[in-house]
Amino acid sequence: MLKIDTTQKLELTKAEMKEYGYKVVDAIVSHFDTQNQKLPVAAASRQEMDQLFLEDVPEKSTDAHKVLDFVLENVMTQSNIVTHPKSFSFVPGPSNYISAMADSLASGFNIFSGGWAGSPAAAEMEIVTMNWLLKMYGFPVKKGGGIFTSGGSMANLTAIITARKVKCGDDFSKAVIYLSDQAHSSNIKAIRVAGFRKEQIRIIPTDSEFKFSLNKLKNAIAKDSLEGLQPFCLIATAGTTNTGTVDQLSELAAICKKEKIWYHIDGAYGAAAILANNGKQLLKGIEKADSITVDPHKWFYQPYEIGCLLVRNHRWLKGTFTEKPEYLRDIEGNTSEINFYDHGIELTRRFRALKFYMSIKTFGLKAFRKAITYNIKLAEETESFLRKSSNWEVISPATLAVINFRYNPIGNALSEKKLDALNQYISAQVVSSQKALLVTTVLNKQVVLRMCLINPRTTMQDVKETITLCESFAGDK
Ligand SMILES: Cc1ncc(COP(=O)(O)O)c(C=O)c1O
Repeated sequence: MLKIDTTQKLELTKAEMKEYGYKVVDAIVSHFDTQNQKLPVAAASRQEMDQLFLEDVPEKSTDAHKVLDFVLENVMTQSNIVTHPKSFSFVPGPSNYISAMADSLASGFNIFSGGWAGSPAAAEMEIVTMNWLLKMYGFPVKKGGGIFTSGGSMANLTAIITARKVKCGDDFSKAVIYLSDQAHSSNIKAIRVAGFRKEQIRIIPTDSEFKFSLNKLKNAIAKDSLEGLQPFCLIATAGTTNTGTVDQLSELAAICKKEKIWYHIDGAYGAAAILANNGKQLLKGIEKADSITVDPHKWFYQPYEIGCLLVRNHRWLKGTFTEKPEYLRDIEGNTSEINFYDHGIELTRRFRALKFYMSIKTFGLKAFRKAITYNIKLAEETESFLRKSSNWEVISPATLAVINFRYNPIGNALSEKKLDALNQYISAQVVSSQKALLVTTVLNKQVVLRMCLINPRTTMQDVKETITLCESFAGDK
């Protein structure tokens, strides 16, 4: 008889699992408890990392605690702390403990969140949380639909593939897609992945507020139509990555309606502002989209990975992504039982809805509303603080918790080139001090410092200390 060698079962005893698991939980709790006191920036060269980790695949076993201790000591410490209150760059990931634990449950039970038969509860939870989101954005709950993805990039890709199918069918050789020069790069990547040629992409310049230039957009659509091309999709942004700018959502909706163009809104980080009163005001018109990307792993405070695509009509997803292989015949179920593998690109999917569900149930949506409102106010307060200083120039005002500014002291007539170099230097010094993560971006050809203040634990004190740190480096130069 075929025998099982105990080691091949990849198992621990119950007691060993408990001891190991408690140690992992202790490490996570300690991280949450002490993260504010740690340095947010990790800095290590490839050579240093190779020296620590590079080895041939180990054939023999190693003591579980030895591996865990090594990982806790060397791996977890060599990563930026994106949950840190002084992690201001890119789009931070403030996260929350309940969702981190929910992810552990999802992995611990290894729940297959692809189809109804794999886990009716996981599918139902995705339906329920999707309904919450549909309602938040004014989409029809019954007719609308959506899917959780790994992040915003995958949500945008899913949107573009759906738009292509619905608007063009299988022949998209004449199709043209429009987006602004401030749209996130994941959109261009998605367009290219979807098989569009460069000539099918129109990047429309933005105006002085970094919004779509409507006149240029209208001209481009008219010209393409006259040339016999097929304008089929427009991507607006609700919260651009650079400046937090929200495009003219209602005006763009009217253009799309008139021209019969698919209207996608990339609200990966900014759309969460719907939960704040002034955010809701700014996002007016979002309910007119055909599809919206919103990323819970950004401003809904979820740990990676959870993005989301919402669509006005769930049939669009099903019509785009359904395949019927013989080996899935037995689990098709009835039409009310949603198989999310038919609504997107992935078949096997982790149980992403669980963390969203558990964190909102636990804290209540009101806590999220307060946190997001606080973040928007924090950026506004940062703006007034900078405007009162003779050292700083605000380049783009606080919008959806993002603000851009540069060091440019009054009376110091530095050339643009020197100002760029100075601000680049300040950022590099701040990052290499590891005390704050504050990198630059480029706006109107100027190098600027950009703060994205979506962490609910960041205080004005954290902001002021970072500005003082910047000033100390500026003084060096
Ligand atoms: C507006 C916007 N869209 C899309 C993305 C891509 O999202 P992800 O990094 O989750 O793929 C980002 C990321 O910052 C973003 O800001």
